[in-house]
Amino acid sequence: MELRLAGRMGLLGTETAFEVLARAKALERQGRHIVHLEVGEPDFDTPDNVKDAAIKALRDGFTHYTATAGLWEAREAVAEHVSRTRGITAAPEEVVLTAGAKPIMFFAMLALVEPGDEVIVPDPGYPIYDSMARFAGGVVRPLVLREENDFRVDPDEFRRLVGKRTKLVVLNSPHNPCGSVLSRDDLKAIAAGVADTPAWILSDEIYGRITYGVEAASLASLPGMQERTIILDGFSKAYAMTGWRLGYGVMPAPLAERITQLATNATSCAAAFTQIAGAAALRGSQDSVDKMVAEFRRRRDFIVQGLNGIEGITCRTPLGAFYVFPNTKAIDPDSARFASFLLTEMGVAVLSGTAFGPNGQGYLRLSYANSIPNIEEALRRIAEGVARYRAAAKA
Ligand SMILES: Cc1ncc(COP(=O)(O)O)c(C=O)c1O
Repeated sequence: MELRLAGRMGLLGTETAFEVLARAKALERQGRHIVHLEVGEPDFDTPDNVKDAAIKALRDGFTHYTATAGLWEAREAVAEHVSRTRGITAAPEEVVLTAGAKPIMFFAMLALVEPGDEVIVPDPGYPIYDSMARFAGGVVRPLVLREENDFRVDPDEFRRLVGKRTKLVVLNSPHNPCGSVLSRDDLKAIAAGVADTPAWILSDEIYGRITYGVEAASLASLPGMQERTIILDGFSKAYAMTGWRLGYGVMPAPLAERITQLATNATSCAAAFTQIAGAAALRGSQDSVDKMVAEFRRRRDFIVQGLNGIEGITCRTPLGAFYVFPNTKAIDPDSARFASFLLTEMGVAVLSGTAFGPNGQGYLRLSYANSIPNIEEALRRIAEGVARYRAAAKA
Protein backbone atom coordinates (compact mmCIF):
# COMPACT_ATOMS: atom_id res chain seq x y z
CA MET A 1 0.00 0.00 0.00
CA GLU A 2 1.45 3.35 -1.00
CA LEU A 3 1.92 5.62 2.01
CA ARG A 4 0.71 9.10 1.08
CA LEU A 5 1.03 11.19 4.20
CA ALA A 6 -0.70 14.49 4.77
CA GLY A 7 1.50 17.41 3.74
CA ARG A 8 1.65 18.72 7.30
CA MET A 9 3.68 15.67 8.33
CA GLY A 10 6.57 17.26 6.43
CA LEU A 11 6.54 20.10 8.97
CA LEU A 12 6.87 17.88 12.02
CA GLY A 13 10.23 17.71 13.80
CA THR A 14 11.37 15.38 16.56
CA GLU A 15 13.43 15.02 19.71
CA THR A 16 16.90 13.69 18.93
CA ALA A 17 17.45 12.45 22.51
CA PHE A 18 15.26 9.45 21.77
CA GLU A 19 17.20 8.67 18.56
CA VAL A 20 20.58 8.88 20.30
CA LEU A 21 19.24 6.66 23.09
CA ALA A 22 18.19 4.09 20.46
CA ARG A 23 21.67 4.20 18.85
CA ALA A 24 23.32 3.83 22.27
CA LYS A 25 21.08 0.85 23.12
CA ALA A 26 21.95 -0.78 19.78
CA LEU A 27 25.68 -0.45 20.64
CA GLU A 28 24.99 -1.97 24.07
CA ARG A 29 23.33 -4.95 22.41
CA GLN A 30 26.63 -5.45 20.54
CA GLY A 31 28.38 -5.68 23.92
CA ARG A 32 29.70 -2.10 24.13
CA HIS A 33 29.68 -0.19 27.42
CA ILE A 34 28.02 3.23 27.09
CA VAL A 35 27.84 6.05 29.62
CA HIS A 36 24.46 7.72 29.17
CA LEU A 37 24.54 11.50 29.33
CA GLU A 38 21.93 11.99 26.62
CA VAL A 39 18.64 11.42 28.42
CA GLY A 40 16.73 14.25 30.05
CA GLU A 41 15.34 12.51 33.09
CA PRO A 42 16.33 12.28 36.75
CA ASP A 43 18.08 9.03 37.65
CA PHE A 44 16.30 9.13 41.02
CA ASP A 45 13.26 7.04 41.84
CA THR A 46 9.80 8.56 42.37
CA PRO A 47 9.43 9.39 46.11
CA ASP A 48 7.77 6.66 48.19
CA ASN A 49 4.91 8.86 49.43
CA VAL A 50 3.92 9.43 45.78
CA LYS A 51 4.08 5.74 44.89
CA ASP A 52 2.08 4.85 48.00
CA ALA A 53 -0.60 7.39 47.06
CA ALA A 54 -0.85 5.84 43.57
CA ILE A 55 -1.13 2.30 44.94
CA LYS A 56 -3.83 3.38 47.39
CA ALA A 57 -5.65 5.23 44.58
CA LEU A 58 -5.69 2.06 42.47
CA ARG A 59 -7.03 0.07 45.43
CA ASP A 60 -9.64 2.79 46.07
CA GLY A 61 -10.95 2.42 42.54
CA PHE A 62 -9.34 5.35 40.69
CA THR A 63 -9.21 3.20 37.58
CA HIS A 64 -11.77 5.02 35.43
CA TYR A 65 -12.02 8.11 33.23
CA THR A 66 -11.91 11.44 35.01
CA ALA A 67 -13.15 14.82 33.83
CA THR A 68 -10.89 15.77 30.91
CA ALA A 69 -9.18 18.67 32.70
CA GLY A 70 -8.56 16.42 35.70
CA LEU A 71 -10.02 15.41 39.05
CA TRP A 72 -11.15 18.49 40.94
CA GLU A 73 -8.91 17.55 43.88
CA ALA A 74 -5.87 17.39 41.60
CA ARG A 75 -6.74 20.69 39.90
CA GLU A 76 -7.09 22.27 43.34
CA ALA A 77 -3.70 20.90 44.43
CA VAL A 78 -2.06 22.32 41.29
CA ALA A 79 -3.81 25.69 41.69
CA GLU A 80 -2.64 25.95 45.31
CA HIS A 81 0.90 24.92 44.40
CA VAL A 82 1.20 27.31 41.47
CA SER A 83 -0.34 30.18 43.48
CA ARG A 84 2.14 29.64 46.31
CA THR A 85 5.27 29.12 44.21
CA ARG A 86 4.59 31.89 41.64
CA GLY A 87 3.05 34.44 43.98
CA ILE A 88 -0.13 34.63 41.88
CA THR A 89 -3.74 33.61 42.40
CA ALA A 90 -4.62 30.64 40.22
CA ALA A 91 -8.02 28.91 40.39
CA PRO A 92 -8.70 25.21 39.74
CA GLU A 93 -10.75 26.25 36.67
CA GLU A 94 -7.51 27.56 35.15
CA VAL A 95 -5.73 24.20 35.46
CA VAL A 96 -5.68 21.47 32.80
CA LEU A 97 -3.93 18.20 33.67
CA THR A 98 -2.51 16.23 30.77
CA ALA A 99 -0.56 13.03 30.12
CA GLY A 100 2.87 14.64 30.61
CA ALA A 101 3.49 18.36 30.18
CA LYS A 102 4.27 18.02 26.48
CA PRO A 103 0.63 18.01 25.28
CA ILE A 104 0.26 21.53 26.68
CA MET A 105 2.76 22.69 24.02
CA PHE A 106 0.86 20.86 21.30
CA PHE A 107 -2.56 22.09 22.41
CA ALA A 108 -1.45 25.68 23.01
CA MET A 109 0.02 25.91 19.50
CA LEU A 110 -3.07 24.32 17.91
CA ALA A 111 -5.42 26.56 19.87
CA LEU A 112 -3.64 29.86 19.26
CA VAL A 113 -1.46 29.80 16.13
CA GLU A 114 -3.03 30.54 12.75
CA PRO A 115 -1.12 29.83 9.54
CA GLY A 116 1.31 32.72 9.06
CA ASP A 117 1.31 33.82 12.71
CA GLU A 118 4.74 34.39 14.17
CA VAL A 119 5.96 32.27 17.06
CA ILE A 120 9.12 33.26 18.92
CA VAL A 121 11.07 30.25 20.18
CA PRO A 122 14.44 30.10 21.94
CA ASP A 123 17.38 28.88 19.84
CA PRO A 124 18.98 26.79 21.25
CA GLY A 125 15.74 25.45 22.70
CA TYR A 126 13.64 22.36 23.33
CA PRO A 127 13.01 21.09 19.78
CA ILE A 128 9.30 20.41 20.24
CA TYR A 129 8.50 24.17 20.34
CA ASP A 130 9.81 24.64 16.83
CA SER A 131 8.23 21.41 15.62
CA MET A 132 4.77 22.18 16.99
CA ALA A 133 4.82 25.84 15.92
CA ARG A 134 5.54 24.81 12.31
CA PHE A 135 3.01 21.96 12.45
CA ALA A 136 0.35 24.50 13.44
CA GLY A 137 1.33 26.60 10.41
CA GLY A 138 3.24 29.20 12.38
CA VAL A 139 6.30 31.10 11.19
CA VAL A 140 9.13 30.48 13.64
CA ARG A 141 11.22 33.46 14.70
CA PRO A 142 14.26 32.18 16.60
CA LEU A 143 15.28 34.08 19.72
CA VAL A 144 19.02 33.44 19.90
CA LEU A 145 20.46 32.68 23.33
CA ARG A 146 24.15 33.55 23.39
CA GLU A 147 26.91 32.10 25.51
CA GLU A 148 28.38 35.56 26.19
CA ASN A 149 25.01 36.48 27.73
CA ASP A 150 24.94 33.30 29.86
CA PHE A 151 22.36 31.93 27.40
CA ARG A 152 19.71 34.36 28.66
CA VAL A 153 17.33 36.43 26.53
CA ASP A 154 18.88 39.63 25.18
CA PRO A 155 16.22 42.33 25.78
CA ASP A 156 17.21 44.37 22.71
CA GLU A 157 17.06 41.36 20.45
CA PHE A 158 13.72 40.39 21.95
CA ARG A 159 12.28 43.86 21.33
CA ARG A 160 13.39 43.69 17.70
CA LEU A 161 11.66 40.32 17.19
CA VAL A 162 8.33 40.92 18.89
CA GLY A 163 5.58 42.85 17.15
CA LYS A 164 2.01 42.91 15.89
CA ARG A 165 2.41 39.61 14.05
CA THR A 166 3.69 37.77 17.12
CA LYS A 167 1.03 35.34 18.34
CA LEU A 168 3.05 33.36 20.84
CA VAL A 169 6.36 33.72 22.67
CA VAL A 170 7.87 30.58 24.17
CA LEU A 171 10.02 31.05 27.26
CA ASN A 172 11.81 28.27 29.11
CA SER A 173 13.46 29.03 32.43
CA PRO A 174 15.35 27.14 33.79
CA HIS A 175 16.36 26.30 30.27
CA ASN A 176 16.88 23.06 28.39
CA PRO A 177 19.58 22.64 27.04
CA CYS A 178 21.56 25.61 28.41
CA GLY A 179 20.63 25.56 32.12
CA SER A 180 20.16 29.33 32.10
CA VAL A 181 17.65 31.05 34.39
CA LEU A 182 15.93 34.34 33.49
CA SER A 183 16.30 37.07 36.12
CA ARG A 184 13.44 39.33 37.22
CA ASP A 185 14.99 42.11 35.12
CA ASP A 186 14.98 39.83 32.07
CA LEU A 187 11.30 39.07 32.69
CA LYS A 188 10.50 42.78 33.11
CA ALA A 189 12.11 43.51 29.75
CA ILE A 190 10.12 40.69 28.13
CA ALA A 191 6.87 41.92 29.73
CA ALA A 192 7.56 45.45 28.45
CA GLY A 193 8.32 44.04 25.00
CA VAL A 194 4.99 42.22 24.64
CA ALA A 195 2.82 44.85 26.36
CA ASP A 196 1.56 46.53 23.16
CA THR A 197 1.33 43.36 21.09
CA PRO A 198 -1.28 40.60 20.87
CA ALA A 199 1.32 38.02 21.95
CA TRP A 200 0.57 35.20 24.35
CA ILE A 201 3.35 33.60 26.35
CA LEU A 202 3.95 29.90 26.78
CA SER A 203 6.14 29.81 29.88
CA ASP A 204 7.73 26.38 30.19
CA GLU A 205 8.63 26.12 33.88
CA ILE A 206 9.10 22.36 34.06
CA TYR A 207 12.58 22.76 35.62
CA GLY A 208 11.39 25.49 38.00
CA ARG A 209 12.17 23.46 41.12
CA ILE A 210 15.69 22.61 39.97
CA THR A 211 17.76 25.75 40.57
CA TYR A 212 21.05 26.42 42.36
CA GLY A 213 21.00 29.43 44.63
CA VAL A 214 18.72 31.52 42.41
CA GLU A 215 14.99 31.94 42.07
CA ALA A 216 13.33 31.00 38.77
CA ALA A 217 10.58 33.61 38.69
CA SER A 218 7.53 33.20 36.45
CA LEU A 219 6.56 35.82 33.90
CA ALA A 220 2.98 35.30 35.12
CA SER A 221 3.91 37.02 38.40
CA LEU A 222 4.54 40.36 36.65
CA PRO A 223 1.72 42.92 36.47
CA GLY A 224 -0.68 42.23 33.60
CA MET A 225 1.09 39.07 32.48
CA GLN A 226 -0.98 36.27 34.03
CA GLU A 227 -3.90 37.06 31.72
CA ARG A 228 -1.76 36.26 28.66
CA THR A 229 0.48 33.50 30.03
CA ILE A 230 0.16 29.74 29.85
CA ILE A 231 2.32 28.21 32.57
CA LEU A 232 3.52 24.74 31.58
CA ASP A 233 4.74 22.53 34.41
CA GLY A 234 4.51 18.96 35.58
CA PHE A 235 5.81 16.11 37.66
CA SER A 236 8.40 14.53 35.35
CA LYS A 237 11.49 16.39 36.53
CA ALA A 238 10.82 17.63 40.10
CA TYR A 239 9.42 14.29 41.33
CA ALA A 240 11.31 11.97 38.96
CA MET A 241 8.03 10.85 37.36
CA THR A 242 8.86 10.87 33.64
CA GLY A 243 7.23 7.47 33.09
CA TRP A 244 4.02 8.37 34.86
CA ARG A 245 3.07 10.91 32.20
CA LEU A 246 1.50 13.71 34.19
CA GLY A 247 1.79 17.43 33.59
CA TYR A 248 -0.36 20.52 33.48
CA GLY A 249 -1.01 23.95 32.08
CA VAL A 250 -2.31 26.94 34.04
CA MET A 251 -3.98 29.63 31.93
CA PRO A 252 -6.98 31.96 31.81
CA ALA A 253 -10.21 29.94 32.20
CA PRO A 254 -11.65 30.64 28.70
CA LEU A 255 -8.47 29.26 27.10
CA ALA A 256 -8.39 26.36 29.59
CA GLU A 257 -11.86 25.35 28.35
CA ARG A 258 -10.71 25.17 24.74
CA ILE A 259 -7.46 23.37 25.60
CA THR A 260 -9.63 20.91 27.51
CA GLN A 261 -11.69 20.41 24.35
CA LEU A 262 -8.50 19.54 22.45
CA ALA A 263 -7.59 17.08 25.22
CA THR A 264 -11.06 15.50 24.99
CA ASN A 265 -10.35 14.90 21.32
CA ALA A 266 -6.86 13.52 21.95
CA THR A 267 -6.66 11.57 25.20
CA SER A 268 -9.94 12.05 27.17
CA CYS A 269 -7.96 12.57 30.40
CA ALA A 270 -4.73 11.78 32.25
CA ALA A 271 -4.73 8.47 34.16
CA ALA A 272 -6.85 8.81 37.30
CA PHE A 273 -4.45 7.25 39.83
CA THR A 274 -1.53 9.39 38.57
CA GLN A 275 -3.60 12.50 39.30
CA ILE A 276 -4.11 11.36 42.91
CA ALA A 277 -0.37 10.67 43.14
CA GLY A 278 0.40 14.08 41.65
CA ALA A 279 -1.74 15.83 44.28
CA ALA A 280 0.11 13.86 46.99
CA ALA A 281 3.45 14.93 45.48
CA LEU A 282 2.52 18.62 45.62
CA ARG A 283 0.92 18.48 49.08
CA GLY A 284 3.38 16.10 50.77
CA SER A 285 6.92 16.49 52.07
CA GLN A 286 9.32 18.13 49.61
CA ASP A 287 12.41 16.60 51.24
CA SER A 288 13.10 14.24 48.34
CA VAL A 289 13.02 17.17 45.88
CA ASP A 290 15.47 19.13 48.03
CA LYS A 291 17.79 16.11 48.34
CA MET A 292 17.73 15.49 44.61
CA VAL A 293 18.50 19.14 43.82
CA ALA A 294 21.39 19.14 46.34
CA GLU A 295 22.84 16.07 44.63
CA PHE A 296 22.39 17.63 41.17
CA ARG A 297 24.29 20.67 42.40
CA ARG A 298 27.22 18.49 43.51
CA ARG A 299 27.27 16.80 40.10
CA ARG A 300 26.97 20.10 38.26
CA ASP A 301 30.04 21.44 40.04
CA PHE A 302 31.90 18.20 39.33
CA ILE A 303 31.09 18.05 35.61
CA VAL A 304 31.69 21.78 35.00
CA GLN A 305 35.12 21.57 36.62
CA GLY A 306 35.95 18.36 34.75
CA LEU A 307 34.93 19.76 31.36
CA ASN A 308 36.85 22.99 31.87
CA GLY A 309 39.91 20.87 32.63
CA ILE A 310 39.85 19.41 29.10
CA GLU A 311 41.81 21.44 26.56
CA GLY A 312 39.53 22.86 23.89
CA ILE A 313 36.36 22.73 26.00
CA THR A 314 34.89 25.64 27.94
CA CYS A 315 31.78 25.29 30.04
CA ARG A 316 29.70 27.90 31.86
CA THR A 317 28.16 27.07 35.23
CA PRO A 318 24.41 26.68 34.70
CA LEU A 319 22.00 27.95 37.36
CA GLY A 320 19.19 25.46 36.79
CA ALA A 321 17.96 22.17 35.25
CA PHE A 322 20.41 19.23 35.01
CA TYR A 323 22.27 19.97 31.80
CA VAL A 324 25.57 21.54 30.83
CA PHE A 325 26.11 23.08 27.41
CA PRO A 326 29.89 23.18 26.84
CA ASN A 327 31.50 25.00 23.93
CA THR A 328 33.50 22.50 21.84
CA LYS A 329 34.17 24.69 18.78
CA ALA A 330 37.95 24.45 19.25
CA ILE A 331 37.78 20.67 18.90
CA ASP A 332 35.29 20.40 16.06
CA PRO A 333 32.99 23.15 14.77
CA ASP A 334 30.64 20.35 13.63
CA SER A 335 28.92 19.26 16.85
CA ALA A 336 26.93 16.41 15.33
CA ARG A 337 30.14 14.84 14.02
CA PHE A 338 31.87 15.24 17.39
CA ALA A 339 28.87 13.84 19.31
CA SER A 340 28.75 10.88 16.95
CA PHE A 341 32.49 10.25 17.48
CA LEU A 342 32.03 10.36 21.27
CA LEU A 343 29.26 7.78 21.06
CA THR A 344 30.70 5.34 18.56
CA GLU A 345 34.42 5.60 19.45
CA MET A 346 34.41 6.52 23.13
CA GLY A 347 31.11 5.08 24.37
CA VAL A 348 29.73 8.36 25.74
CA ALA A 349 26.21 9.28 24.63
CA VAL A 350 25.71 13.06 24.46
CA LEU A 351 23.58 15.30 22.24
CA SER A 352 24.82 17.68 19.60
CA GLY A 353 23.83 21.28 20.33
CA THR A 354 22.26 21.34 16.87
CA ALA A 355 19.51 19.03 18.18
CA PHE A 356 18.24 22.25 19.80
CA GLY A 357 18.41 24.54 16.77
CA PRO A 358 21.03 26.00 14.41
CA ASN A 359 22.48 28.17 17.18
CA GLY A 360 23.46 25.07 19.13
CA GLN A 361 26.22 24.50 16.57
CA GLY A 362 29.59 24.30 18.35
CA TYR A 363 28.10 22.99 21.62
CA LEU A 364 27.17 19.67 23.18
CA ARG A 365 24.44 18.95 25.70
CA LEU A 366 25.36 16.64 28.55
CA SER A 367 22.82 15.60 31.15
CA TYR A 368 24.32 15.14 34.60
CA ALA A 369 21.36 13.12 35.82
CA ASN A 370 23.83 10.29 36.36
CA SER A 371 26.07 9.18 39.24
CA ILE A 372 29.40 10.89 40.01
CA PRO A 373 31.36 7.66 39.18
CA ASN A 374 29.60 7.49 35.78
CA ILE A 375 30.22 11.18 35.14
CA GLU A 376 33.87 10.70 36.12
CA GLU A 377 34.18 7.83 33.65
CA ALA A 378 32.49 9.91 30.94
CA LEU A 379 34.92 12.79 31.57
CA ARG A 380 37.89 10.39 31.35
CA ARG A 381 36.61 9.04 28.02
CA ILE A 382 35.86 12.52 26.64
CA ALA A 383 39.38 13.71 27.57
CA GLU A 384 40.90 10.67 25.87
CA GLY A 385 38.62 11.15 22.87
CA VAL A 386 39.58 14.82 22.54
CA ALA A 387 43.28 13.87 22.57
CA ARG A 388 42.70 11.25 19.86
CA TYR A 389 40.53 13.60 17.83
CA ARG A 390 43.14 16.34 17.91
CA ALA A 391 45.97 13.96 17.04
CA ALA A 392 43.96 12.68 14.06
CA ALA A 393 43.20 16.23 12.93
CA LYS A 394 46.92 17.13 13.01
CA ALA A 395 47.97 13.99 11.14
C1 LIG B 1 11.91 22.01 28.40
C2 LIG B 1 11.01 20.84 28.55
N1 LIG B 1 9.69 21.02 28.57
C3 LIG B 1 8.84 19.98 28.66
C4 LIG B 1 9.29 18.69 28.72
C5 LIG B 1 8.30 17.55 28.73
O1 LIG B 1 7.95 17.10 29.97
P1 LIG B 1 6.98 15.85 30.16
O2 LIG B 1 7.86 14.63 30.27
O3 LIG B 1 6.25 16.11 31.43
O4 LIG B 1 6.06 15.75 29.01
C6 LIG B 1 10.67 18.45 28.72
C7 LIG B 1 11.17 17.07 28.75
O5 LIG B 1 12.29 16.76 28.46
C8 LIG B 1 11.55 19.55 28.64
O6 LIG B 1 12.88 19.39 28.62
